[in-house]
Amino acid sequence: MSDEESAKKREQAQRIREMFAGIATRYDLLNHLLSGNVDRRWRNLVVKRMAATLPASNARILDVACGTGDFSFALVNGTQAELVGLDFCRPMLDIAAAKSKERGLTIPFVEGDALNLPFSDQSFDGVSIAFGLRNLASFEEGLRELLRVLRPGGTVAVLEFSRPQAPILRTLFRLYFTKLLPFFGGLISGSKSAYQYLPDSVARFPDQSSLAEMMRGIGFTEVTFQNLTGGIAALHVGRRAK
Ligand SMILES: C[S@@+](CC[C@H](N)C(=O)[O-])C[C@H]1O[C@@H](n2cnc3c(N)ncnc32)[C@H](O)[C@@H]1O
Repeated sequence: MSDEESAKKREQAQRIREMFAGIATRYDLLNHLLSGNVDRRWRNLVVKRMAATLPASNARILDVACGTGDFSFALVNGTQAELVGLDFCRPMLDIAAAKSKERGLTIPFVEGDALNLPFSDQSFDGVSIAFGLRNLASFEEGLRELLRVLRPGGTVAVLEFSRPQAPILRTLFRLYFTKLLPFFGGLISGSKSAYQYLPDSVARFPDQSSLAEMMRGIGFTEVTFQNLTGGIAALHVGRRAK
């Protein structure tokens, strides 16, 4: 990568970090409000899929781009695995850590970059990334890092916004996502740009089949995807070969 390219990626990452820092205190409220709580159902489904693949004892999970930790908590409850949460935005992590304490949990929430994970190769049985991959400066590099830290036979779960399948749903969703969401998200969070960024980043993100192809190209095996709520989101699951 040229110096210019890496400087551009660093700048992009810095912008994203600042954007999440700016909305951290309103993030949970907005998440549930703007998704009508559907995000909880989606996350619970990922937990079930992940739980079914983990070893019966001493399983370790890494939740990348964990944000304020809701998905990490769901994973801990649903799998009983030992979990580490990672994010590069301190204010999001501080909220996750405070919530963890409130729940009487001692989850390590680590500050770090998804593109350069501070963990050794093959150190987790499961790796998840929920609504995080789309934010990375390089989707391929992010996926490569997830594969690197996964143990042979381990499972990766990628939950992300995707492409609604039915034309009518696609039209309604586009209207909601590009008009209503930036308006209400901006009003409640005080950051219109953060909620304008959301539909833009989803539009740039690969659709279901392209993401599955990208994951296979990087070396994941048994890659499948499942559309959630008609394809508004999708769950991609893959494994590291034994
Ligand atoms: C939309 S939030 C998702 C949070 C959480 N996973 C959830 O499901 O609510 C995206 C998170 O990705 C984090 N993020 C974006 N780029 C990252 C990177 N390169 N390394 C680590 N975290 C990153 C942001 O700080 C933010 O907390």
